[in-house]
Amino acid sequence: MSDEPAGTAGRPRRLRVVLVTSTVGLLAMVGAAVLPGTAAAASTLGASAAERGGRYFGTAVAANKLNDSAYTTILNREFNQVTPENEMKIDATEPQQGQFTYGNADRIVQHALSRGMRVRGHTLAWHSQQPGWMQAMSGSALRNAMLNHVTQVATHFRGKVAWWDVVNEAYADGGSGARRDSNLQRTGNDWIEAAFRAADQADPNAQLCYNDYNIDNWNDAKTQAVYRMVQDFKNRGVPIDCVGLQSHFTGGSNYPSNYRTTLSSFAALGVDVHITELDIRNAPSDAYRNVVNDCLAVSRCKGITVWGIRDSDSWRSGESPLLFDSGGNKKPAYNAVLTALNNGTAPTTPPGGGCTTSVTPGTVWGDRYNTSVTVSGASTWTVVVAITRPQTVSTTWNGSASWDGGNSLLTMRSNGSGNTFGFTTMMNGNSGARPQIRSCTAG
Ligand code: G3I
Repeated sequence: MSDEPAGTAGRPRRLRVVLVTSTVGLLAMVGAAVLPGTAAAASTLGASAAERGGRYFGTAVAANKLNDSAYTTILNREFNQVTPENEMKIDATEPQQGQFTYGNADRIVQHALSRGMRVRGHTLAWHSQQPGWMQAMSGSALRNAMLNHVTQVATHFRGKVAWWDVVNEAYADGGSGARRDSNLQRTGNDWIEAAFRAADQADPNAQLCYNDYNIDNWNDAKTQAVYRMVQDFKNRGVPIDCVGLQSHFTGGSNYPSNYRTTLSSFAALGVDVHITELDIRNAPSDAYRNVVNDCLAVSRCKGITVWGIRDSDSWRSGESPLLFDSGGNKKPAYNAVLTALNNGTAPTTPPGGGCTTSVTPGTVWGDRYNTSVTVSGASTWTVVVAITRPQTVSTTWNGSASWDGGNSLLTMRSNGSGNTFGFTTMMNGNSGARPQIRSCTAG
């Protein structure tokens, strides 16, 4: 599909992720078929998505369900991406001004990263779920508090969050195409770009997204308004990498037949697109299949996140909109999604010579830890890995290493030692961050 512009112009000092890669973890690897054209169909959503050009298939996760083994069994088996459902929101992370609480969010992040799942941060700036102190603020005091919140939270999760929903739901519903009225909007129309710039400063390696609902139908005024904002940001160099379409086809909002046009139109602006909160009333197989096929048809559609695992986990449980029933059984829509993923023609090795990677966490010591990376889809390869400072790499094996970006970008090239390379990272006081794969190139 020619949904991307020829160029990949972007934020000048941010490393662009233009090549397909995946960081499928230890558990996902077990179910993953790795070599294109030779393997049996993948048996889980995450493994199959990873085979479709390094995409992910993820879910919203609630921290208070991580001790429910029926829940975590499905989570760990099926998904290779996680979005905290409520735990990174402003009321959760800064309940009192200047006092940050990360316990529940950290638990989800730890659960995900230790299993090789990527994390979407949700959300840094939003009119909703503000703590009382923020709801009571206005003007420059609110603007500064919002920017400080963005900076603090993005800094805390630096090196752990792959994508941030920097700003959520800033446009009004209906036909006006206007910004949503809110205390943040009343601080000035530039509040959105100010939030993106603050997030870029705090975490230059995270991909920064604008996220909204009811921007699925290409003909809707709200979709067009968000499109024009992203176009304007790209034209003016505001650091934006991606658009998240929540795609809640619940509560009377339906899957639109022009959804693929919407995805490809945003992608043509030079941003990635993500389906970030998918749920569909009564979980019809056709609509779920269509969403998967539309994402696979647009190479910049990087993955799909469903908004919960079982129907009983859904914010709209009465509509039974998810892929697993309340007993944790796979529904017909699950099979439709897995089959669509497995039948997808999206290339494992995309045009331009990409390859895919699987990351396996290794031994952890007090001061350092090992990581190994297996490359699929190419016998000679170049993989770029981002290291979060102050962490450093002390040793590498089974590849030839070179360094860039102030020694925060490790490039490993195949050297005839096979398709799995590894390295030891010194924590240097940061015990939480883990290396992130930035690109995988064949040759
Ligand atoms: O945890 C408390 C519990 O202690 C209390 O007894 C109960 C009583 O109301 O509330 C519980 O908190 C609720 C929380 O979900 C956890 O279940 C909140 O009231 C409730 O407002 C909150 O709803 C969340 C909603 O965002 C809030 O806006 C949903 O879980 C969450 O799925 C939903 O997610 C949003 C995305 O962030 C943005 N896009 C739309 C999406 C669906 O609304």
